[in-house]
Amino acid sequence: MNFHSDSGYLPLKPIIHSWIDSLIARKDLMLDKIRKEDSPVNIHSLDPFVENIQTYQCVFQKYKLKHKIYFARKANKCISFAQQAFKCGQGVDTASFNELEQCLAAGIPASVLILTAAVKNRKLLELAVQSQVTIVLDNLDEYFLLKEIVEEKQKNTAVVIRLSGFTLNEKQLHSRFGFSLVQAQNLIEEIHLDAGLLRYSGLHFHLNGYAVDERVAAIEQSIRLIDQLDAMGIGTESLDIGGGFLVNYLKEGEQWAAFHQELKLAVLGQRTPLTYLNDSLGIVKSEMGIQGEPSVYPYFNSNNKALFLERILKSHSELFHQPIHELIQQRNLELRIEPGRSLVDQAGVTVATVLFRKADSAGNFLVGIEMNRSQLRSSSADFLVDPIHLPLKSGNQHEDPCFGFLVGAYCLEQELILKRRVKFDKFPEVGDLILFPNTAGYMMHFFESEAHRFNLAANLFFDQSEGSLIKDG
Ligand SMILES: Cc1ncc(COP(=O)(O)O)c(C=O)c1O
Repeated sequence: MNFHSDSGYLPLKPIIHSWIDSLIARKDLMLDKIRKEDSPVNIHSLDPFVENIQTYQCVFQKYKLKHKIYFARKANKCISFAQQAFKCGQGVDTASFNELEQCLAAGIPASVLILTAAVKNRKLLELAVQSQVTIVLDNLDEYFLLKEIVEEKQKNTAVVIRLSGFTLNEKQLHSRFGFSLVQAQNLIEEIHLDAGLLRYSGLHFHLNGYAVDERVAAIEQSIRLIDQLDAMGIGTESLDIGGGFLVNYLKEGEQWAAFHQELKLAVLGQRTPLTYLNDSLGIVKSEMGIQGEPSVYPYFNSNNKALFLERILKSHSELFHQPIHELIQQRNLELRIEPGRSLVDQAGVTVATVLFRKADSAGNFLVGIEMNRSQLRSSSADFLVDPIHLPLKSGNQHEDPCFGFLVGAYCLEQELILKRRVKFDKFPEVGDLILFPNTAGYMMHFFESEAHRFNLAANLFFDQSEGSLIKDG
């Protein structure tokens, strides 16, 4: 087992917020909590969350746009973030009965909540109607059920219509969600003519991927519909352009580019593998060579968060011969966004303890940590961000850096916490901590599971002034 060789490791250095540096200086606190709560623990801070809200607000203010930011809480389940969004004068996007019910119970007013759940059963719609939460409609069956419920409850309810089927360069953007522009127009006319308890208030879309031009096209086509409705005497109050604002996790673009280049060589067998058993992270290898890119989140990007929003707003509309922000402002629309990942950028880390060191049958150096891969997982093939090794004791016997793979608690051969080979600043000892930075957006909660009846990780908040870790909620 050669664990001192760095030949299969390329650095991907994370951006680290200052609160994380302060937390790293308090290993004693983390160890104490892990003793009480079990490993791993998720540790959060509200400071970056507030800063992230402010960066978006600055852009809206610059373009003098009426706006509302709805935190998509599916990205992170801690209620503290939802409460903080409200304290900052913003709202929360809820995607399930439990998310909505918890927000209401926490005292977040219905007027700043929206319901975008992909499936909405009677119980959920009844809660939204009863509490007067705006509902984003996705399909006709939902509409019919909602009509029934508002009649039964005799409650006025605002609805927003989710759109899809936009076109860009004569190609349709595929989506399983929402109504086509024509279906939406018919439905809105029906709601208007009905003059019943449902009230049409705005349009909504959320696009997959991170393309600015697709968002620009979707806004233009939504505005065209808004104008058509306006000509029929049907007013629109808001346009919600969903989430999907990019986050940058990494310090250096060169490291990101080098990793991609070398991964391809590794998959072709032309260099030492960078990943466990030379996992291609989604690159397809055939007799013809390799095809495609790794199916991973763009962990490095220079067009993120508020910059991404501003690029959309500054874009020129070919359809209207005006910048996008003017189209929105002239119509006095409230522009809404639903960022999830980007509002919790830098707002959480996951910390686990080292339990064992060993070699696998091929001699790969494995470090077993007390967590499972559902506790650090997204739809990306790997989390391409270097973890931070925090040795328990200084002055260990083995001071040289070493390289290996982090494995977890599920009984599967593929139970790697990270597929990439990682670096330990010195030989890891049992009890050392491994800190995964920037995991609050999807990584810690989206796929977490109780398989093997493992406990779910505790969710804590770091109070820097008190020097304490407090439970969420
Ligand atoms: C309707 C809707 N809004 C907002 C979001 C949040 O997206 P993100 O976390 O990428 O900002 C999602 C994510 O799936 C979504 O489906």
